[in-house]
Amino acid sequence: MNDVDDLGAFLDGAWSHLEHGVAQATSLARYPTFATVSPDGVPQARTVALRRADRDRGRLEVQTDIETEKVTALRHNPTAALHVWLPEADLQIRLTARVTILTGAAVDDAWARVPATSRVSYGTEPLPGTPIAQVYAYEKPANRSRFAVLDCQLTHIDLVHLDTRHRRAAFSVTDGWRGKWLAP
Ligand SMILES: Cc1cc2nc3c(=O)[nH]c(=O)nc-3n(C[C@H](O)[C@H](O)[C@H](O)COP(=O)(O)O)c2cc1C
Repeated sequence: MNDVDDLGAFLDGAWSHLEHGVAQATSLARYPTFATVSPDGVPQARTVALRRADRDRGRLEVQTDIETEKVTALRHNPTAALHVWLPEADLQIRLTARVTILTGAAVDDAWARVPATSRVSYGTEPLPGTPIAQVYAYEKPANRSRFAVLDCQLTHIDLVHLDTRHRRAAFSVTDGWRGKWLAP
C-alpha cells in the first residue's frame, strides 16, 4: 500500500471495503460480526449482512427481526460493536456504533427493497430462539411488522493492517475522524 503513513488513506481504504461489502454479496465485508451486550451483561456476537454504508453520515445499516435477542439487547444498551477480518487485505476493521431501532413507516422503503425470497427472514414462528420439538418444527412467514432496520451511527473505528510492520489506527467521531496511530 502506498501512503503508509497517511491516516486519511487508511480510513478511505476501510470505507471502500465496507462499501464493496454492501455492493457485493460475495465480499467478506458483507458479513460483519455484530456484537451486543445482553441485559444481564453477557457479550453476544452473531453474523449479519451489511445492507448500507453511508460514509458521509458515518452510518451503517443492518436489517433484522424485531423479535431477536440482539434487539432486546439494543433496547437495553443501544451500543454495538461490528467486526470484519479481510484476509486478502490483511485488514481488521472494528467499529463501534450507537444503534437506533427503526420499525413501522420509517422502514417502508427498506422493506420495499427486500426481495420476496428474503422477507421470510422476518417472521419466524415460534419466535427465534424458542426451543422446538423437532428440527424443522417452525414456519417462516414473511411478517412486515417484524422487520426492523438497525441504524448504526458510528462513533469509533479501529483498524489493524498486518504487514512486515503492522499498522494500527483509531478514528473517532469526536475528533472529526482525523484519527491517530496506535501501537499495534
Ligand atoms: C451469513 C449470515 C448472514 C446473516 N445475516 C443476518 C442479518 O442480516 N440479520 C439478522 O438479524 N440475522 C442474520 N443472520 C442470523 C444471525 O447470525 C443470528 O443467528 C440471528 O439473527 C439471531 O441472532 P440473535 O438471537 O443473537 O439476535 C445471519 C447469519 C448468517 C450465517
